[in-house]
Amino acid sequence: MVFTAKSTLILVSTLVTVLCVGARPSANPGFSPLDLLRGIGIRNCGNGRRSAHASLTFHDAISFSKSNPLSGGADGSIMQFSDVEAKYVANEDLADMIEVQKRFAMNHGVPFADFIQFAGAVGASNCAGGPRLPFFAGRPKSARGPAPDHLVPGPADSVDKILARMADAGFSPEETVDLLASHSIAAQHGLDRTMNGAPLDSTPSAFDTQFYVETLLKGTVPPKNGTTPVSALSPIPGEFRMQSDFLIARDPRTACAWQSLVDKQSVMIDRFQKAMAKLSTLGSNRFFLTDCSDVIPQPRNSLRSPSAYIPSGRSMADIESFCKSSTFPKLPVHPGPLVPILPVGPPSFH
Ligand code: HEM
Repeated sequence: MVFTAKSTLILVSTLVTVLCVGARPSANPGFSPLDLLRGIGIRNCGNGRRSAHASLTFHDAISFSKSNPLSGGADGSIMQFSDVEAKYVANEDLADMIEVQKRFAMNHGVPFADFIQFAGAVGASNCAGGPRLPFFAGRPKSARGPAPDHLVPGPADSVDKILARMADAGFSPEETVDLLASHSIAAQHGLDRTMNGAPLDSTPSAFDTQFYVETLLKGTVPPKNGTTPVSALSPIPGEFRMQSDFLIARDPRTACAWQSLVDKQSVMIDRFQKAMAKLSTLGSNRFFLTDCSDVIPQPRNSLRSPSAYIPSGRSMADIESFCKSSTFPKLPVHPGPLVPILPVGPPSFH
């Protein structure tokens, strides 16, 4: 058989259509979003390591580099070559999640690259207020090789270094801020083992704008291990503040984008969806992918608090606004005394 450009295109598009249909619950019960929730335990957003799904989408995709045409992007290499990539310092805390997902993807015959982005989108849809992320299927079944080390930004990196790395992957400073909405459902596990499970904001089960508010509160509480290059003083006992989040919230290149998301839930969701559509397809030509977004469940839970607020025990006077062109919005103060933030549940995938 002779492959012309046209017949190759038809073959590729037939394959991706099959994949997309295969991802639909009706066609393949083993690959339904619900089975995923049960099978690898992401029923409760922000609990245990359940947000690691969202983190994994980033760690796989961000290996893309404009300066290296052979770099993979969202190609599943973090899973296919987990013997190499899971040993990188930036990925060490994802190693167990990678293996759990890898087994599941292999059992269901789903290519790693698609599966990582699928799991991240399903996981995010399960958070209160969460986004319904776009999901495209049909990435190559196999990555060309392991991603090089040192491409995932780190919490001790300067803003210069983080923005340069993000720009090399195709993201503006504003888009970097948009992507960091994911830290609203995040906790730390490996940065300070004495505070395992410490959330990055007071509402780790909600995909809300509290993260953008609370990172701007004056830091007064040292982490249990004391401040280190990865950690800053936090505003509330039990909450963990990453040095990189602290700096990006205050940098002149990003401070206004940061502040612009405070109490703007629908804007934040919209921008996150757009930035994730880009992140999740890095290294692929979207023309050859199939839009399977309809397999991602509609987020079920709404936010407990419809608007952002200053956590109890703190006041508007504790806000450190670094955006010179707009004033920080006036937020209600949550009533009551200062309440320490509890860690998210122990690491568990089931
Ligand atoms: C751009 C700079 C970024 C830096 C420096 C950074 C760094 C980190 C670090 C150090 C942790 C804690 C890991 C641990 O101790 O378990 C973390 C958690 C997390 N990050 Fe990021 N991150 C960045 C961007 C992103 C992006 C773009 C996403 C997703 C699109 C993301 C999603 C997450 C999630 C969901 C968690 C929580 C994981 C869990 O709870 O197990 N991060 N990040």
